[in-house]
Amino acid sequence: MATIAAVILLLGFILTPLQANNVSISWVQNATDKGAVCLDGSPSAYYFDKGQGEGANNWLIYLEGGGWCVNQTDCLVRTTYSRGSSKHMQQSIDFIDFLSNNFTKNPEFYNWNRVYVPYCDGSSFTGDIEAPDTVTNVTYRGARIFKATMDDLLSMGMNCAENALLTGSSAGGLATMIHCDRFRELLPLFARVKCLPIAAYFVHEENLLGSKQFEPAFDALIDLHGSAGVLPPLCTSIMRPSLCLFPQYLLLFVKTPVFIAMSAFDQIQIRMNLFREDEVCLVSHNCTDDRKVAMQELRWDVLAALPKALPLFRGMWITNCIAHHLIYFSTLKIIGNKTYAEVFHDWYFDYNYLQVIDTTLEPRDCSEYGIYPQALN
Ligand SMILES: *[C@@H]1O[C@H](CO)[C@@H](O)[C@H](O)[C@H]1NC(C)=O
Ligand SMILES: *[C@@H]1O[C@H](CO)[C@@H](O)[C@H](O)[C@H]1NC(C)=O
Ligand SMILES: *[C@@H]1O[C@H](CO)[C@@H](O)[C@H](O)[C@H]1NC(C)=O
Ligand SMILES: *[C@@H]1O[C@H](CO)[C@@H](O)[C@H](O)[C@H]1NC(C)=O
Ligand SMILES: *[C@@H]1O[C@H](CO)[C@@H](O)[C@H](O)[C@H]1NC(C)=O
Repeated sequence: MATIAAVILLLGFILTPLQANNVSISWVQNATDKGAVCLDGSPSAYYFDKGQGEGANNWLIYLEGGGWCVNQTDCLVRTTYSRGSSKHMQQSIDFIDFLSNNFTKNPEFYNWNRVYVPYCDGSSFTGDIEAPDTVTNVTYRGARIFKATMDDLLSMGMNCAENALLTGSSAGGLATMIHCDRFRELLPLFARVKCLPIAAYFVHEENLLGSKQFEPAFDALIDLHGSAGVLPPLCTSIMRPSLCLFPQYLLLFVKTPVFIAMSAFDQIQIRMNLFREDEVCLVSHNCTDDRKVAMQELRWDVLAALPKALPLFRGMWITNCIAHHLIYFSTLKIIGNKTYAEVFHDWYFDYNYLQVIDTTLEPRDCSEYGIYPQALN
């Protein structure tokens, strides 16, 4: 008896430092046969932590982000690390924030089936080209990775989902919007299915003075990865496919409820639509007055480009935080007495539909709420 107690005590002692939610890698079944491979041709993978108790039929799928690779060389470079090759992915990762299995840290989703899908296709899970690149031997197959991953999850019980949430940040947030209706269609009719794109509402600026955005570059991206077929056909039938990558147009063709979480001073938005120097001075709090004005104008453009739809279909939480990624469980309250997690929870479970937008004009340091600027690169 004493021995057993001692063993249990010892086990508890050993396990205490391992309280992290360490989840090991799973390989997509028959990935290579299905063409569901990373840029280097290695099989795709995901990290899965099984739901328990009342969460057993609920599914949270998180799509990792990390920009796009924009030309043959750029995509070839990605094959040397995890963003382009599963050979370089970690054997296990720690599930944190809304992926954590700890009730105290994640009271909303701790007992759901939680899936982290690493990003290794460089195209927001849209690439779909049969043959490898003749020059670099790179494979562009993001769309097949999404499909094969979903096949696996469906066979593991997601076909009986009662609640499901597709989410992701940055390029993963864009993937969330692109695949939202497809995800919805895979799941039972009676299931509650919604999408949460985070830090992904990048706007298309039509005639912005000083904008370096130009459409041919986006057309070339679509061609490089073979992405057009994955975008909503109605969208690509009435505008150039590259425009359908922009949420302000894309979401016009998405039927499933979507909640947009975004900073109006998102660092990547500023880098994309203005200049990298603007991102730098924003993060270092030393922008000149004219650059501040340019960023204010970009903020207005972001707000103007937000969907004009009922909160039921398009929930929102738009901060002024100087950041890119937004953690889910932050203590920041924009209006009223509710955090992002609370606003989202109410919206997801159909208790209350809100579009929360910070109406103050200035960018804001949100470090004290756990929302930090992304490191400059
Ligand atoms: C859950 O998180 C709380 C708060 O951080 C911590 O005190 C507790 O030890 C964690 N529980 C487990 C089982 O890891
Ligand atoms: C996760 O667990 C494995 C063994 O199961 C260990 O090798 C690895 O270091 C752990 N990873 C983390 C991030 O704790
Ligand atoms: C994987 O391939 C094998 C052999 O072709 C087949 O028997 C099996 O059903 C496939 N599994 C899935 C999940 O597609
Ligand atoms: C091209 O990549 C495939 C994996 O997708 C690999 O099997 C093959 O050996 C590579 N060919 C060359 C010439 O590197
Ligand atoms: C490819 O893209 C990278 C990253 O943007 C850039 O540095 C490089 O000049 C581009 N190469 C070509 C050939 O366009």
